[in-house]
Amino acid sequence: MSTPHNNAQPGDFAETVLMPGDPLRAKYIADTYLTDVKQVNGVRNMFGYTGYYKGKKVSVMGSGMGMPSIGIYCHELYAFYGVEKIIRIGSCGAYQPQCKLFDIIIAQGACTNANWAHQYGLPGTFSAIASFDLLNKAYNVAKEKGFTTHVGNILSSDIFYNDQPEVWKKWADMGCLAVEMESYALYSTAAHLKKQALCILTVSDSLVSHEETTAEQRQTGFNQMMEVALELA
Ligand code: HPA
Repeated sequence: MSTPHNNAQPGDFAETVLMPGDPLRAKYIADTYLTDVKQVNGVRNMFGYTGYYKGKKVSVMGSGMGMPSIGIYCHELYAFYGVEKIIRIGSCGAYQPQCKLFDIIIAQGACTNANWAHQYGLPGTFSAIASFDLLNKAYNVAKEKGFTTHVGNILSSDIFYNDQPEVWKKWADMGCLAVEMESYALYSTAAHLKKQALCILTVSDSLVSHEETTAEQRQTGFNQMMEVALELA
């Protein structure tokens, strides 16, 4: 069996998959943290690997950027490969002054400016939320490790270069902590397929202070987030 976007075989993926946006980050995680690693997907260079962390089987695969991309990969993992839990690990832009560069944000819920949930034919608005079990575990691990961690709502945006540069303030005013581009599709897909999902994010830039991180600094922040995510496997 394979899908249009994944040439892994049944059983190749663990029950838990960590998903960074960048497939080369997936390779970095496999090389750095996992043992007995096998590459399970290579279609479109969206690399996926399965290995072991502290004796537990875990997989890691790139999601690409944006809801259409993560929507394809997470649907196939949940629906065709028996995956139960997907933990996105990504970066975000801070919407609140207390969310500083390198802080961790755990997305309790996600809002969106996208039309994603239209497909479900609901007579209203769908609130996309994290698995409480995964969220609770991630929060406790992050606290134990001493990482500054915020839990709350975020915006999953379809637009990176927005023609209305001030419109983000409306979401900030509703309490959204940060912006990224994938969580709403992941949480909605998990809900629809009766699976679990969580998004753990590192603040890579701030719309409030206009500060940004360098690529090298992002790697360090990424490692902290990884240490949290791997404990959930
Ligand atoms: N916008 C959208 N996605 C992001 C950002 C941002 O500012 N930073 C990191 N991911």
